[in-house]
Amino acid sequence: MFFILLLLTTVALLYVYLKWNFSFWERKGFPYAAACIPFGALDSVRRNKRSFGLAIYDMYTATKKPFVGIYLTLRPALLVRDAQLAHDMLVKDFASFHDRGVYVDEVHDPLSANLFSLEGNRWKTTRTKLTPSFTSGKLKGMFPTAEAVADKMLAYLNNKLPETSSSEIDMKNLMSSYAIDIIASTIFGLDVDSFTDPNNEFRQISKEVTQPTAKNILRGTTSFLYPGLERIFNRLGSSIDGLGRMRDLAHRTIAYREENKLMRPDLMQLLLQLRNTGKVSNDDDIWATETAAESLKTLTKDNIAAHLFLFFVAGYETTASTTAFTLYELMQNPDVLAKLRDDINQTLEKHNGQLTYDCIQDMKYLELCVMETTRKYPGLPILNRMCTEDYPLPNSKLVVEKGTQIIISLLGIHRDEEYFPEPLSYQPERFTDEHRNYTPAAYMPFGVGPRQCIAARMGKMNVKIALTKILTNFNIETRLEKREIDFTVNGVPLLPKGGVPVKLTRKAQSGTA
Ligand code: HEM
Ligand SMILES: *[C@@H]1O[C@H](CO)[C@@H](O)[C@H](O)[C@H]1NC(C)=O
Repeated sequence: MFFILLLLTTVALLYVYLKWNFSFWERKGFPYAAACIPFGALDSVRRNKRSFGLAIYDMYTATKKPFVGIYLTLRPALLVRDAQLAHDMLVKDFASFHDRGVYVDEVHDPLSANLFSLEGNRWKTTRTKLTPSFTSGKLKGMFPTAEAVADKMLAYLNNKLPETSSSEIDMKNLMSSYAIDIIASTIFGLDVDSFTDPNNEFRQISKEVTQPTAKNILRGTTSFLYPGLERIFNRLGSSIDGLGRMRDLAHRTIAYREENKLMRPDLMQLLLQLRNTGKVSNDDDIWATETAAESLKTLTKDNIAAHLFLFFVAGYETTASTTAFTLYELMQNPDVLAKLRDDINQTLEKHNGQLTYDCIQDMKYLELCVMETTRKYPGLPILNRMCTEDYPLPNSKLVVEKGTQIIISLLGIHRDEEYFPEPLSYQPERFTDEHRNYTPAAYMPFGVGPRQCIAARMGKMNVKIALTKILTNFNIETRLEKREIDFTVNGVPLLPKGGVPVKLTRKAQSGTA
């Protein structure tokens, strides 16, 4: 009898609690979307039907309101749909939205203290110290290293493609290897070749980190939605897959470089400068560093490992899929392909056939193509911020309270015909002065404001090197029938389901790049 009563009471309390929790937005007087209890907007994710980014996209397309209260499981979040409002929060009103509110525990878990998760002043000083590592001058220095990776990809393709006929290549897979090697090489400072050695250590670790295992999904979710719970997991000694091995690799590389006084133009080198001299040199020609005594170092090996790990996570799938999606669109848009070929050819001619950083920067149509790809396929389909100070919404009596999670559907905004006419059509020209027909505030593939992607230039450069190399050495077999890419239900980045098959043939001895 007693147990039945206890059970009934528990159920009743739970019911009352859920009802109360899921009436948060209604009680605050905000417009809200009807929510499935208890998963809210993430119900389709739980059913394995949509990825996180697509579930948010569904919420975006379900209404026309400028903002709408949603629930990410039990947690209320404000989905900001209006592009100008989103832009304001990220740029003009940054002071009220300077954190992301995801898991970080610098004291007990130094590996969690990266640029994406750090908050307030800790974020600000770290960002200021890291920024000089991503200037165009530094990228110029890294260019040959990146180009060498692209050449390994070419060697692999030349080996694989038959002499004359065409062959179908999965661009997602190819570009994943390229992106892994680019990051291993230009960021971690390792010499790897995933094309000839697909089982190298860095690649193995990368697989562990990105696999959609139950554990990775759970930890990704808790880091994002329940940082307090994630703190407990970590305090109990449970770390995410692959992180320990990545840390180990970072420690070994740092020790090796410092002991052997090795110097290489890559991001690792700049982090070592920061560790030993307290800053990254503003002079783009200075890569060397002295080695300070242990007590004078300003970054620990774990601090560096934390940065490297984030750079891997932030740069890997985004670079790979941006390149693959561009090739896919080129295959379906022969006129765009022809223009891009001409642009690459003519710019190369102008630069005496030498592919350099400046030459790539000079390819104007290539820039438009990459802009359009990142519009239609934003590598990160959502942006998020934590409200750090009560924020009165413009033209409204409502106030966003401190502590509220803000979600922006980049995919939703970038594919909204109100901001980009014919959003599914691939039109690099939409970004030219003559055709400009879009809402500038709505275009933010690398985020905007002080917390935008620190490596947008680097990401674009790596994408462009791969595209230039492929287009100067191979022909793409075009297809007139247009098909949209389906996305997987896994992960946060936008990933193509079933790969990105594109048919290539070798070019008869032409381009030299
Ligand atoms: C095509 C490639 C890439 C795309 C599309 C991309 C996109 C983004 C986006 C949308 C954000 C969030 C910005 C915001 O919240 O306002 C971001 C942040 C970030 N990205 Fe990238 N990214 C790319 C490549 C890279 C690479 C190669 C690196 C590493 C070197 C990198 C490092 C970062 C970091 C550190 C942040 C956090 C910045 C902060 O909070 O201060 N990204 N990226
Ligand atoms: C540009 O195209 C022309 C004509 O197809 C070709 O002869 C030339 O080698 C190309 N230049 C480069 C740098 O690829």
